[in-house]
Amino acid sequence: MDGLTPEATGIALIGCGYVADFYLATLPNHPELVLRGVYDRDDARARGFADHHGIRSYTSLEELLAADDVTVAVNLTNPHSHYEISRRCLEAGKHVYSEKPFAEELWQATELVEYAERHGLVLSSAPCSLLGETAETVRSALARGLVGRPRLVYAELDDGAVHQMNFRDWASPSGAPWPYADEFRVGPALEHAAYYLTWLTAFFGPACEVVSYAALIQPDKAPGLDPAALAPDFGCALIRFGSGVVARLTCGTVAPEDHSLRIIGDDGVLSVPDCWDYGAAVTLRERVGMSESTPHYLTGPRRLPLVRPADHPHRYDRHHGHVMDFARGIADLAEAVRTGTGPRLGARHALHVLEITLAVAGVTGAARTFLQTTFDQT
Ligand SMILES: NC(=O)c1ccc[n+]([C@@H]2O[C@H](COP(=O)([O-])OP(=O)(O)OC[C@H]3O[C@@H](n4cnc5c(N)ncnc54)[C@H](O)[C@@H]3O)[C@@H](O)[C@H]2O)c1
Repeated sequence: MDGLTPEATGIALIGCGYVADFYLATLPNHPELVLRGVYDRDDARARGFADHHGIRSYTSLEELLAADDVTVAVNLTNPHSHYEISRRCLEAGKHVYSEKPFAEELWQATELVEYAERHGLVLSSAPCSLLGETAETVRSALARGLVGRPRLVYAELDDGAVHQMNFRDWASPSGAPWPYADEFRVGPALEHAAYYLTWLTAFFGPACEVVSYAALIQPDKAPGLDPAALAPDFGCALIRFGSGVVARLTCGTVAPEDHSLRIIGDDGVLSVPDCWDYGAAVTLRERVGMSESTPHYLTGPRRLPLVRPADHPHRYDRHHGHVMDFARGIADLAEAVRTGTGPRLGARHALHVLEITLAVAGVTGAARTFLQTTFDQT
């Protein structure tokens, strides 16, 4: 900002559940975002959250939407409510930042994007890890040709064997329980595929084809929940990008946690250990001739300097190493509103990511999807 104090932007949160505390923890990284208040259809949850944080809670969605000092609505409701809430907010003239998935169905997200475009409103969607120092370092390394022409990607989003953990006891600092029933109904692909799909589409441009397989491997993960209502807990997809790159993406809650990424190019390999850490190391192995010290025709891993220090002081660190600045996406959107430029996390990009996500999530069985949406890669 060239030393200038940015103008403040009033925001309000809708949904005061488990993730809302992550946002409260990281809002102070962005002092230009001024939290006016929060709303949840569960009165007790809204009041508990507001009291815990010493903030205002609105008594109705209408009251929040009528507030002139709220410019940006942040949709932190459950995926099933995303479309309805984002739509209500846009219709009230608010700019909207939505948690992922952008919507549960492609037609819903398409309608939201077109509505926002017609009415000059800014709309964007989590995850915002593309704005993290690690993702920017990978992008810069690719642009500088450090691996030559990228050809193949292995992206892992295994979250660990959640069913073997004490997930019923997990709670946020303000006391919201981890919504396991909803998480198991929505499934890891819709919940998490966007973390890497946002990166890969930003790096390699729009995708054109997805072949996926998804299965419910652990139907008895939560006694009391009807297995017929549970989403696949494992999915693997092959994605072909228009630029020629092919990616294999895995999402699941059965295998041990692994959120790593490898990008293989003609001249080397870029690796990241965890996309849930905005400051995770980026390493490069360069292709060289075979020698005793390079039997695999690759140098040892060399850590690349991050594009800037990942030193945002306010973090939400769920486990060791999961360090994300959740509010950064809202700041990106608020800056777009202030400056009249497009957000770095554009709505058309999010729409394309959702279409791939839906193809990755599939239904049990194999599916091949030729993609219809596209976006202008920036
Ligand atoms: N739980 C996580 O670790 C996590 C992490 C990152 C992102 N997310 C995303 O954040 C979103 C919320 O997840 P969560 O874990 O906080 O869920 P949650 O169930 O804990 O909280 C959601 C809150 O939204 C409220 N709500 C739902 N529909 C509403 C409506 N129509 N109007 C008003 N309030 C409504 C619910 O009452 C609930 O309090 C999801 O999209 C999820 O994918 C979750």
